[in-house]
Amino acid sequence: MTTSKFYFGFTACTAVLLASSAVAQTDNDLLNFALNLECLEAEYYSNAVYGYGLNTSTLGSGPGSTGGLKANLSPDLLRIARELVNDEINHVTELRELLGNDAVPCPKMDIGGAFTSLAKAALGIDGFFPYNSDINFILGAFLFEDVGVTALHGAIPLLVSKTVLTTIAGFFPVEAYHAAILRTLLYEKGTEMVTPYSIRVFDFVQGFSDLRGKAGNGKDQGIVVPPADGRSTPYPFANLVPQNGKGVAFTRTPKEVLAIVYGGNATQPGTFYPQGMNGYFK
Ligand SMILES: *[C@@H]1O[C@H](CO)[C@@H](O)[C@H](O)[C@H]1NC(C)=O
Ligand SMILES: *[C@@H]1O[C@H](CO)[C@@H](O)[C@H](O)[C@H]1NC(C)=O
Repeated sequence: MTTSKFYFGFTACTAVLLASSAVAQTDNDLLNFALNLECLEAEYYSNAVYGYGLNTSTLGSGPGSTGGLKANLSPDLLRIARELVNDEINHVTELRELLGNDAVPCPKMDIGGAFTSLAKAALGIDGFFPYNSDINFILGAFLFEDVGVTALHGAIPLLVSKTVLTTIAGFFPVEAYHAAILRTLLYEKGTEMVTPYSIRVFDFVQGFSDLRGKAGNGKDQGIVVPPADGRSTPYPFANLVPQNGKGVAFTRTPKEVLAIVYGGNATQPGTFYPQGMNGYFK
Protein backbone atom coordinates (compact mmCIF):
# COMPACT_ATOMS: atom_id res chain seq x y z
CA MET A 1 0.00 0.00 0.00
CA THR A 2 2.85 2.40 0.57
CA THR A 3 3.44 2.70 -3.16
CA SER A 4 -0.22 3.21 -4.07
CA LYS A 5 -1.28 6.53 -5.48
CA PHE A 6 -3.93 8.76 -4.02
CA TYR A 7 -6.37 10.37 -6.34
CA PHE A 8 -8.25 13.49 -5.34
CA GLY A 9 -10.69 15.63 -7.26
CA PHE A 10 -14.23 15.53 -8.49
CA THR A 11 -14.29 17.61 -11.64
CA ALA A 12 -14.36 16.81 -15.31
CA CYS A 13 -10.68 15.91 -14.96
CA THR A 14 -11.59 12.81 -12.99
CA ALA A 15 -11.83 10.39 -15.89
CA VAL A 16 -8.59 11.54 -17.48
CA LEU A 17 -6.67 11.43 -14.23
CA LEU A 18 -8.01 8.04 -13.19
CA ALA A 19 -7.03 6.70 -16.60
CA SER A 20 -3.46 7.76 -15.94
CA SER A 21 -3.29 6.18 -12.49
CA ALA A 22 -0.51 3.79 -13.52
CA VAL A 23 1.78 6.72 -14.27
CA ALA A 24 4.12 8.23 -11.68
CA GLN A 25 3.42 11.65 -10.22
CA THR A 26 4.76 14.11 -12.77
CA ASP A 27 6.03 17.66 -12.57
CA ASN A 28 2.63 18.78 -13.81
CA ASP A 29 0.88 16.84 -11.05
CA LEU A 30 3.04 18.66 -8.52
CA LEU A 31 2.47 22.01 -10.22
CA ASN A 32 -1.27 21.38 -10.09
CA PHE A 33 -0.96 20.53 -6.42
CA ALA A 34 0.77 23.88 -5.86
CA LEU A 35 -1.91 25.54 -7.99
CA ASN A 36 -4.70 24.25 -5.71
CA LEU A 37 -2.88 25.74 -2.71
CA GLU A 38 -2.17 29.05 -4.44
CA CYS A 39 -5.85 29.31 -5.46
CA LEU A 40 -6.84 29.12 -1.79
CA GLU A 41 -4.30 31.71 -0.67
CA ALA A 42 -5.17 34.11 -3.50
CA GLU A 43 -8.91 33.66 -2.94
CA TYR A 44 -8.62 34.36 0.80
CA TYR A 45 -6.52 37.50 0.38
CA SER A 46 -8.58 38.75 -2.56
CA ASN A 47 -11.79 38.52 -0.55
CA ALA A 48 -10.18 40.12 2.49
CA VAL A 49 -8.67 43.01 0.51
CA TYR A 50 -11.20 43.64 -2.26
CA GLY A 51 -14.39 41.98 -1.05
CA TYR A 52 -14.51 39.62 -4.03
CA GLY A 53 -12.62 36.58 -5.22
CA LEU A 54 -10.56 35.66 -8.27
CA ASN A 55 -12.00 36.20 -11.73
CA THR A 56 -12.98 33.39 -14.09
CA SER A 57 -9.69 33.25 -15.96
CA THR A 58 -7.61 33.14 -12.77
CA LEU A 59 -9.92 30.45 -11.40
CA GLY A 60 -9.49 28.48 -14.62
CA SER A 61 -13.31 28.49 -14.71
CA GLY A 62 -13.45 26.79 -11.29
CA PRO A 63 -16.45 27.41 -9.01
CA GLY A 64 -14.69 29.85 -6.64
CA SER A 65 -15.28 30.06 -2.92
CA THR A 66 -17.91 30.51 -0.26
CA GLY A 67 -17.69 32.38 3.03
CA GLY A 68 -15.25 35.16 2.13
CA LEU A 69 -15.75 38.82 3.04
CA LYS A 70 -13.91 42.12 2.79
CA ALA A 71 -11.95 42.18 6.05
CA ASN A 72 -12.10 44.92 8.63
CA LEU A 73 -8.41 45.85 8.37
CA SER A 74 -6.41 48.81 9.59
CA PRO A 75 -4.75 50.89 6.83
CA ASP A 76 -1.31 49.52 7.73
CA LEU A 77 -2.37 45.89 7.52
CA LEU A 78 -4.38 46.54 4.35
CA ARG A 79 -1.19 47.73 2.67
CA ILE A 80 0.55 44.49 3.64
CA ALA A 81 -2.42 42.37 2.58
CA ARG A 82 -2.41 44.05 -0.85
CA GLU A 83 1.15 42.92 -1.34
CA LEU A 84 0.27 39.36 -0.30
CA VAL A 85 -2.68 39.15 -2.67
CA ASN A 86 -0.59 40.37 -5.60
CA ASP A 87 2.04 37.69 -5.01
CA GLU A 88 -0.54 34.91 -4.72
CA ILE A 89 -2.48 35.96 -7.82
CA ASN A 90 0.81 36.12 -9.72
CA HIS A 91 1.61 32.59 -8.54
CA VAL A 92 -1.72 31.30 -9.82
CA THR A 93 -1.23 33.05 -13.15
CA GLU A 94 2.34 31.82 -13.54
CA LEU A 95 1.34 28.23 -12.74
CA ARG A 96 -1.46 28.38 -15.31
CA GLU A 97 1.04 29.62 -17.88
CA LEU A 98 3.54 26.87 -17.08
CA LEU A 99 0.87 24.16 -17.16
CA GLY A 100 -1.01 25.39 -20.23
CA ASN A 101 -3.82 22.99 -21.08
CA ASP A 102 -2.82 20.70 -18.21
CA ALA A 103 -3.77 23.29 -15.57
CA VAL A 104 -6.71 22.23 -13.40
CA PRO A 105 -9.48 24.64 -12.46
CA CYS A 106 -9.29 26.00 -8.94
CA PRO A 107 -11.46 23.69 -6.84
CA LYS A 108 -14.43 24.73 -4.76
CA MET A 109 -13.06 26.46 -1.66
CA ASP A 110 -14.52 27.27 1.75
CA ILE A 111 -12.88 30.40 3.15
CA GLY A 112 -15.44 31.11 5.87
CA GLY A 113 -16.72 28.21 7.95
CA ALA A 114 -13.48 26.29 7.38
CA PHE A 115 -11.64 28.74 9.65
CA THR A 116 -14.42 28.57 12.22
CA SER A 117 -14.29 24.78 12.36
CA LEU A 118 -10.49 24.66 12.55
CA ALA A 119 -10.51 27.17 15.43
CA LYS A 120 -13.12 25.01 17.15
CA ALA A 121 -10.97 21.91 16.67
CA ALA A 122 -7.78 23.68 17.78
CA LEU A 123 -9.03 25.74 20.71
CA GLY A 124 -12.57 24.64 21.47
CA ILE A 125 -13.97 28.08 20.62
CA ASP A 126 -17.07 29.00 18.63
CA GLY A 127 -17.56 31.59 15.93
CA PHE A 128 -13.98 32.44 14.96
CA PHE A 129 -14.14 34.43 11.71
CA PRO A 130 -11.00 35.70 9.99
CA TYR A 131 -12.47 38.86 8.46
CA ASN A 132 -13.48 40.60 11.71
CA SER A 133 -10.22 42.27 12.72
CA ASP A 134 -6.51 42.61 12.03
CA ILE A 135 -5.55 39.84 14.41
CA ASN A 136 -8.20 37.43 13.12
CA PHE A 137 -7.10 38.05 9.54
CA ILE A 138 -3.45 37.38 10.41
CA LEU A 139 -4.38 34.22 12.32
CA GLY A 140 -6.43 33.04 9.34
CA ALA A 141 -3.52 33.57 6.96
CA PHE A 142 -1.14 31.91 9.44
CA LEU A 143 -3.22 28.74 9.22
CA PHE A 144 -2.19 28.06 5.62
CA GLU A 145 1.02 30.03 4.86
CA ASP A 146 3.31 27.75 6.89
CA VAL A 147 1.63 24.77 5.21
CA GLY A 148 2.37 26.22 1.78
CA VAL A 149 6.04 26.54 2.69
CA THR A 150 6.28 22.87 3.71
CA ALA A 151 4.38 21.80 0.58
CA LEU A 152 6.67 23.65 -1.84
CA HIS A 153 9.77 22.49 0.00
CA GLY A 154 8.47 18.92 -0.22
CA ALA A 155 7.84 19.21 -3.97
CA ILE A 156 11.21 20.69 -4.93
CA PRO A 157 13.33 17.48 -4.74
CA LEU A 158 10.71 15.59 -6.79
CA LEU A 159 10.74 17.96 -9.76
CA VAL A 160 12.50 16.90 -12.95
CA SER A 161 12.35 19.88 -15.30
CA LYS A 162 14.84 22.62 -14.52
CA THR A 163 12.37 25.26 -15.70
CA VAL A 164 9.69 23.99 -13.34
CA LEU A 165 12.21 23.63 -10.52
CA THR A 166 13.41 27.19 -11.01
CA THR A 167 9.87 28.54 -10.79
CA ILE A 168 8.89 26.55 -7.70
CA ALA A 169 12.21 27.30 -6.02
CA GLY A 170 11.38 30.95 -6.68
CA PHE A 171 7.89 30.65 -5.15
CA PHE A 172 9.25 28.86 -2.09
CA PRO A 173 11.05 31.84 -0.50
CA VAL A 174 8.15 34.13 -1.35
CA GLU A 175 5.83 31.89 0.67
CA ALA A 176 8.43 31.73 3.42
CA TYR A 177 8.65 35.53 3.47
CA HIS A 178 4.85 35.67 3.76
CA ALA A 179 4.88 33.20 6.62
CA ALA A 180 7.66 35.14 8.33
CA ILE A 181 5.75 38.42 8.01
CA LEU A 182 2.68 36.84 9.59
CA ARG A 183 4.63 35.10 12.32
CA THR A 184 6.42 38.36 13.20
CA LEU A 185 3.17 40.33 13.29
CA LEU A 186 1.69 37.66 15.56
CA TYR A 187 4.75 37.64 17.80
CA GLU A 188 4.52 41.40 18.28
CA LYS A 189 0.95 40.95 19.54
CA GLY A 190 1.76 37.74 21.38
CA THR A 191 0.61 38.71 24.86
CA GLU A 192 -2.58 40.43 23.67
CA MET A 193 -5.87 38.61 23.96
CA VAL A 194 -7.82 37.51 20.91
CA THR A 195 -11.27 38.90 21.70
CA PRO A 196 -13.77 37.71 22.69
CA TYR A 197 -11.99 34.50 23.65
CA SER A 198 -9.52 35.63 26.33
CA ILE A 199 -6.86 33.53 24.63
CA ARG A 200 -3.43 35.08 24.17
CA VAL A 201 -2.15 35.35 20.60
CA PHE A 202 0.81 33.10 21.53
CA ASP A 203 -1.56 30.39 22.67
CA PHE A 204 -3.95 30.81 19.74
CA VAL A 205 -1.03 30.32 17.36
CA GLN A 206 0.18 27.31 19.34
CA GLY A 207 -3.30 25.76 19.11
CA PHE A 208 -3.33 26.13 15.32
CA SER A 209 0.21 24.80 15.05
CA ASP A 210 -0.59 21.77 17.22
CA LEU A 211 -3.64 21.00 15.10
CA ARG A 212 -1.61 21.15 11.89
CA GLY A 213 1.07 18.99 13.43
CA LYS A 214 -1.47 16.41 14.52
CA ALA A 215 -2.91 16.12 11.00
CA GLY A 216 0.32 16.60 9.06
CA ASN A 217 2.84 14.33 10.80
CA GLY A 218 4.31 16.89 13.18
CA LYS A 219 6.72 19.28 11.49
CA ASP A 220 5.04 22.35 12.88
CA GLN A 221 5.94 25.00 15.43
CA GLY A 222 4.28 27.98 17.10
CA ILE A 223 5.98 31.35 17.47
CA VAL A 224 7.53 30.81 20.89
CA VAL A 225 9.38 28.06 22.66
CA PRO A 226 6.90 27.37 25.45
CA PRO A 227 8.37 27.36 28.96
CA ALA A 228 8.36 24.10 30.85
CA ASP A 229 5.31 25.07 32.89
CA GLY A 230 3.46 26.18 29.74
CA ARG A 231 2.21 29.32 31.46
CA SER A 232 5.00 31.78 32.32
CA THR A 233 4.84 35.19 30.70
CA PRO A 234 6.53 36.54 28.83
CA TYR A 235 7.72 33.45 27.02
CA PRO A 236 11.49 33.32 27.20
CA PHE A 237 12.35 32.52 23.59
CA ALA A 238 10.98 33.55 20.22
CA ASN A 239 10.51 30.90 17.55
CA LEU A 240 9.79 32.93 14.45
CA VAL A 241 11.30 30.38 12.08
CA PRO A 242 9.91 26.83 12.05
CA GLN A 243 12.90 24.56 11.40
CA ASN A 244 14.13 21.10 12.31
CA GLY A 245 16.88 22.04 14.75
CA LYS A 246 19.49 22.10 12.00
CA GLY A 247 18.26 25.29 10.40
CA VAL A 248 16.35 23.40 7.72
CA ALA A 249 12.71 24.18 6.94
CA PHE A 250 10.20 21.34 7.22
CA THR A 251 8.88 19.43 4.21
CA ARG A 252 5.54 17.74 3.73
CA THR A 253 4.24 15.34 1.12
CA PRO A 254 1.04 16.19 -0.74
CA LYS A 255 -0.73 13.58 1.39
CA GLU A 256 0.40 15.23 4.63
CA VAL A 257 -0.68 18.62 3.31
CA LEU A 258 -4.05 17.23 2.24
CA ALA A 259 -4.65 15.86 5.72
CA ILE A 260 -4.22 19.39 7.09
CA VAL A 261 -6.26 21.31 4.53
CA TYR A 262 -9.05 18.70 4.51
CA GLY A 263 -9.31 18.93 8.31
CA GLY A 264 -7.62 15.70 9.40
CA ASN A 265 -7.92 13.00 6.76
CA ALA A 266 -6.14 13.09 3.40
CA THR A 267 -8.70 10.83 1.75
CA GLN A 268 -11.74 12.69 3.04
CA PRO A 269 -12.24 16.11 1.41
CA GLY A 270 -13.50 18.83 3.71
CA THR A 271 -12.68 22.10 5.47
CA PHE A 272 -10.94 24.40 2.91
CA TYR A 273 -11.69 22.05 -0.01
CA PRO A 274 -15.20 20.66 0.52
CA GLN A 275 -15.09 18.67 -2.73
CA GLY A 276 -11.37 17.96 -2.68
CA MET A 277 -8.48 19.35 -4.67
CA ASN A 278 -8.28 18.87 -8.42
CA GLY A 279 -5.48 16.67 -9.65
CA TYR A 280 -3.50 13.54 -9.02
CA PHE A 281 -1.31 13.39 -5.91
CA LYS A 282 0.35 10.91 -3.60
C1 LIG B 1 -8.42 38.59 -14.09
O1 LIG B 1 -7.53 38.89 -13.03
C2 LIG B 1 -6.17 38.97 -13.45
C3 LIG B 1 -5.33 39.11 -12.19
O2 LIG B 1 -5.77 40.17 -11.39
C4 LIG B 1 -6.00 40.12 -14.41
O3 LIG B 1 -4.66 40.21 -14.81
C5 LIG B 1 -6.90 39.87 -15.61
O4 LIG B 1 -6.83 40.97 -16.47
C6 LIG B 1 -8.33 39.64 -15.18
N1 LIG B 1 -9.12 39.19 -16.32
C7 LIG B 1 -10.30 39.69 -16.61
C8 LIG B 1 -10.97 39.12 -17.82
O5 LIG B 1 -10.83 40.55 -15.94
C1 LIG C 1 -9.99 8.55 6.37
O1 LIG C 1 -11.07 8.45 5.49
C2 LIG C 1 -11.15 7.20 4.86
C3 LIG C 1 -12.16 7.27 3.73
O2 LIG C 1 -13.28 8.05 4.06
C4 LIG C 1 -11.46 6.15 5.91
O3 LIG C 1 -11.57 4.87 5.31
C5 LIG C 1 -10.34 6.15 6.94
O4 LIG C 1 -10.65 5.29 8.00
C6 LIG C 1 -10.11 7.55 7.49
N1 LIG C 1 -8.91 7.55 8.30
C7 LIG C 1 -8.87 8.06 9.51
C8 LIG C 1 -7.54 8.01 10.21
O5 LIG C 1 -9.86 8.54 10.06
